[in-house]
Amino acid sequence: MKSKPIPVTQPYMPPLEEFIPYLKQIWSDKILTNSGPFHEQLEQALCDYLGVNHIALFSNGTLALITALQALRVSGEVITTPYSFVATSHSLLWHGNKPVFVDIEQETLNLNPTKIEAAITPQTTAIMPVHCYGNPCDIDAIQKIADNYNLRVIYDAAHAFGVQCHCGSILNHGDLSVLSFHATKIFNTFEGGAIICPDAKTKQRIDHLKNFGFVDEVTVVAPGINAKMSEINAAFGLLQLQYMPIVMQRRSEIDSIYRESLDGVKGIRCLPKAKQKVANHSYFPILVESDYQTTRDELYQKLKNKGIFSRRYFYPLISDFPMYRGLPSASFSNLPVANKVAKQVLCLPIYPTLDFEKQKLVIDAIRN
Ligand SMILES: Cc1ncc(COP(=O)(O)O)c(C=O)c1O
Repeated sequence: MKSKPIPVTQPYMPPLEEFIPYLKQIWSDKILTNSGPFHEQLEQALCDYLGVNHIALFSNGTLALITALQALRVSGEVITTPYSFVATSHSLLWHGNKPVFVDIEQETLNLNPTKIEAAITPQTTAIMPVHCYGNPCDIDAIQKIADNYNLRVIYDAAHAFGVQCHCGSILNHGDLSVLSFHATKIFNTFEGGAIICPDAKTKQRIDHLKNFGFVDEVTVVAPGINAKMSEINAAFGLLQLQYMPIVMQRRSEIDSIYRESLDGVKGIRCLPKAKQKVANHSYFPILVESDYQTTRDELYQKLKNKGIFSRRYFYPLISDFPMYRGLPSASFSNLPVANKVAKQVLCLPIYPTLDFEKQKLVIDAIRN
């Protein structure tokens, strides 16, 4: 008998009966959106959980990225990483910015701060790094460069929910940090996102921008967009938040088993354990090196044939998509590390309900 497919990820679903009271409340209140009661509760609950002061909820992370650029009035060139999900650079194009790609570090796969200065021009106004797989960027080095050149820093923190570094939440760094609550993320609201704001005034501006720019019934201060989170999404977030300790615990266990079991497999390299205080284990990337028995793509296909769905995440690089590849910074010679890693990386299945038996199938398929 063929066993059930193993997806690369699966959302954690709280018991349905626990969601029904939230729905009853929405049906009774008849408030569906526009900063309703669940929206307000979720903002507060997330501030407490994440250890941040102000958060603005969004309908998705991409609109949150675009709004973050608008809120800070970022213009001109923005330095960013080619090793991310396309939404990072797409947000720049949507806001009329020119992405300038800088290579990544071999160890963390994050934007390499030692390469940033060479990419700065008089048109550069901001840096948009990504905490890739939830591993923190070199926040101190990036901030130092930003301060020296008077640049804004917007972190695409779509993968970094709950990550804590030596000085508290990683989300408190830079000018703004943006989260995604997409179904594939460790905390989800079906679709959703958020901007972590440093102060109440910035949050207020962002709240206006995500509601068409309305300040009051008759005043519109900017060409804002509709990016509000609905009550149903917020309610699901409130319920999901209660299950985060289980989600984090299970992910950590799965991460440890992969590390132990793949240790010593010739040609398979796990990323070093990140040094942060609290990791979220949102992905489990491996690098398939030249001394492994097959190529990365052959391993990907072999797993697929067995019903195991890994992902070549991030391949292709953003800089290789048609709307970016003509940029001078997208050239192969400018991005040697990103190009190498994109050909080696494979993200293995990791999600709370991945039991040991299933995980063993993944491990055995890689080992043999
Ligand atoms: C790094 C990164 N940035 C941005 C996004 C966009 O978020 P969303 O799907 O919520 O629009 C995602 C994922 O979807 C992502 O992985």
